[in-house]
Amino acid sequence: MNKNRLRIFDTTLRDGEQCPGASMNLREKLEVARQLARLKVDVIEAGFPVISEGDFTAVQTIAREIKGPIITGLARCVAKDIDAAGEAVKPAGKRGRIHVFLATSKIHREFKLKKAKDEIIRLAVEGVNRARSFVDDIEFSPEDASRTEPDFLVQVCRAVIDAGATTVNIPDTVGWAVPEHYASLIKYLHTEVPEFRSGKAIISVHCHNDLGLAVANSLAAVKAGARQVECTVNGIGERAGNAALEELVMALQTRADYFGNIECGIQTREIVKSSRLVSRMCGLLVQRNKAIVGENAFAHASGIHQDGMLKNRNTYEIMDPQVVGWGETELPLTKHSGRAAVAARLKEKGFKMSEEDTAAIFARFKEIGDKKKFVYDDDLVSLVEGHITEVPETWSLDYISVSTGNTTVPTATVRLRFAATTTPATKTNSCFQDASIGDGPVDAALKAIDRLTNTKGKLMDYSLRAVTQGMDALGEVTLKVDFGDGSLTPGKGASTDIIEASAKAYLNAVNRHLLSSREKTPKK
Ligand code: KIV
Ligand code: ZN
Repeated sequence: MNKNRLRIFDTTLRDGEQCPGASMNLREKLEVARQLARLKVDVIEAGFPVISEGDFTAVQTIAREIKGPIITGLARCVAKDIDAAGEAVKPAGKRGRIHVFLATSKIHREFKLKKAKDEIIRLAVEGVNRARSFVDDIEFSPEDASRTEPDFLVQVCRAVIDAGATTVNIPDTVGWAVPEHYASLIKYLHTEVPEFRSGKAIISVHCHNDLGLAVANSLAAVKAGARQVECTVNGIGERAGNAALEELVMALQTRADYFGNIECGIQTREIVKSSRLVSRMCGLLVQRNKAIVGENAFAHASGIHQDGMLKNRNTYEIMDPQVVGWGETELPLTKHSGRAAVAARLKEKGFKMSEEDTAAIFARFKEIGDKKKFVYDDDLVSLVEGHITEVPETWSLDYISVSTGNTTVPTATVRLRFAATTTPATKTNSCFQDASIGDGPVDAALKAIDRLTNTKGKLMDYSLRAVTQGMDALGEVTLKVDFGDGSLTPGKGASTDIIEASAKAYLNAVNRHLLSSREKTPKK
């Protein structure tokens, strides 16, 4: 491979999804994977197949459905993990990769693994050998590599390459590295391991952001010879997250004068779309001032800046916002637009929808069209994403009325429809109504829902954003609820009325919670 070609390894669906409260269902993961393919990442790490049936199915489905990128599944250096990853990536054929990891640092060897160095090397080689019985493309990660003795790391790299690994990842697992130190480690490995110099194997880097240095460390490593970077859209990931894909790619492109002609295949115009999709699918909002993809990333507020921009954009703008997908003009749809126009716009936006999906979205589109003059692409995308994240609606909102004011006790009356499916053929719908007071109109509505659904949720996170601009904008509510089962259940809902959006988001969480409780109940 061209020695300046940098592989972009996206781990949004694995390390990104490990972030608390970011879990996605199969449909959501598949939609993200489709967008990653349009973004043209080189590798999609689709999950950790051994950890659950859900993860296994997600990796297998992505391996079967997504064409283009390499699809990989993560595995500890143990037989059952490697076998699960091998089975899950099988449908990708030659594009299947197994990513095996084993900790190598002194602290992990002594306290976590209780194994000596030679035992670590033996296990690593054994793991790579086992992975080779499934695929040719094997990546090995010495976990906590940045805190591993460099000479031992050389021994590990040589041994796993000898066994057949073609990519060796050097993770900064705990976000401990600083750019100069990390770059010198990469340079040292590049010098000491002949296969890295010859191109038989490549060095990958995987940086966490505990000190806010994940992108800086990754870039320093690329400058020092790494040829794969592992990253996530919006930088989501364990703890403080992983290196943000959009920041890495745009730094390399914008500062090619410094980094040299590092080539990566990313379609930068897909960046903003990818960021929004991931944010909505996993319910983690992007901060306004986030580089590249935050709402304010290209907003110039001060008079001096605006004046300079009018005279010459380059005075204050180092990138063209359109290059990353900002400001694509669109012709809004209206309530008069037909189903074909909506279907065409969905296709244009890259969504692969069945007839049934299109019909459901068109019905929602009509409801919105009655309330709003124009339905913008962002409104439509929000409807699609709402549809994708939908779980079977045990409870759905039929009617809501709130009375509130600065001198009244907020009161909500809610009517819910209950869908009890006993057998696929018999479905009975019934409506139930109740009312509640609360600290505010949203609180009152959620309390009424709790009474009706016989659940008791504690709202842990609530955010509201306007999907588009204007007084009639769709309000999208994202929330996380603690139902006392040891996890946070996400919920999303959109409406031109923010109380209705909140009730829908809460019901979405209630339905998810009920579904997962049913799935956890052993079958008799
Ligand atoms: O941070 C880490 O070390 C990891 C490995 C599994 C690559 O995520
Ligand atoms: Zn990681």
